[in-house]
Amino acid sequence: MAESITPLISKEKISTRIRELGAMINQDYANSPVMAVCILKGGVIFFADLVRELTMPVTCEFLGTSSYGSATESSGEVKLTLDITHPIEGKNILIFEDIIDTGLTLKYIKKLLMARNPASIKIATLLFKPESLQVSDIKPDYCGFEIGKEFVIGYGLDYDGLYRQLPYVGVFKK
Ligand code: PRP
Repeated sequence: MAESITPLISKEKISTRIRELGAMINQDYANSPVMAVCILKGGVIFFADLVRELTMPVTCEFLGTSSYGSATESSGEVKLTLDITHPIEGKNILIFEDIIDTGLTLKYIKKLLMARNPASIKIATLLFKPESLQVSDIKPDYCGFEIGKEFVIGYGLDYDGLYRQLPYVGVFKK
């Protein structure tokens, strides 16, 4: 069967939700400085859109992890491919992810960053798959949309490196 993409969350819905998330984050942090940490590669589009809604002093950092390879299911193994370049001790860290699926990537990242003594760590994710979660201690503080177990692409999410540039989120079938 040919590959297919069925639209799930439109560009307009995403942009409305990002404005709402931005308003929540601005209210919660008041004017406290935030170190915004983008998880590459998938988080980059969400990060770029959401940081532009923030009104407090924001510094931007990038952290790379990889777990999927070319499969549509998590390998369960997380690799650090790029580390952030500044100390985080005493800082309020806000992590930006495109999706929390099994939660294994964020469990790994949180452990890595907690060891560096930040003041706080919160998680913002565009998508969350509660039915796929395999860890008990990971939950998003700011979540765009909860979805089912379907494999999704677009708005940063890929299949085999492709489709990240789509402006909407779609369900991908092989
Ligand atoms: C994806 C996604 C998250 C992670 C979520 O990254 O961007 O980081 O998987 O899955 P999990 O909750 O099951 O760990 P991936 O490792 O595919 O790398 P990429 O962002 O470069 O595509």
